[in-house]
Amino acid sequence: MKNKTLALLFLGSIVVACSPKVAEVVAEEVPETPEATTEETVVSAEEALAMDGKVIYSANCAKCHDLPIVDSYSKEKWAKIYPSMADNSKLTPSDRATVNAYIQWELAN
Ligand code: HEC
Repeated sequence: MKNKTLALLFLGSIVVACSPKVAEVVAEEVPETPEATTEETVVSAEEALAMDGKVIYSANCAKCHDLPIVDSYSKEKWAKIYPSMADNSKLTPSDRATVNAYIQWELAN
């Protein structure tokens, strides 16, 4: 009887000692599922860039006229008008690209 109890206690302590490790391994493996992470990361990076662009757009594109509504103009129209408007705003090359990313993102979403 005493031996049985000791054996159960021993087994019990193995289970307790092992279970956190099992949980850790499972938790580490989950983020490595390819479809779940890569796509999400790409989308949010794009969106983050677009949101940076929106801030620059709002600060620079309402100086001479009302802030244009991106969706009021086609992609083709933007391709024609944007370079001269970016020049008007004296955007740095980096800001110019970031605002363009915002316009493209807004047109696509
Ligand atoms: C220095 C003044 C100035 C700034 C700054 C400026 N614009 Fe303009 N924008 C104009 C003028 C003037 C017009 C109207 C004449 C024209 O179409 O060129 C115009 C027209 C537009 C139009 C309408 C085009 C059409 O044919 O209906 C859009 C869209 C536009 N701007 C976008 C922008 C964006 C985006 C920015 C910021 C990157 C910006 N503008 C910054 C002066 C400016």
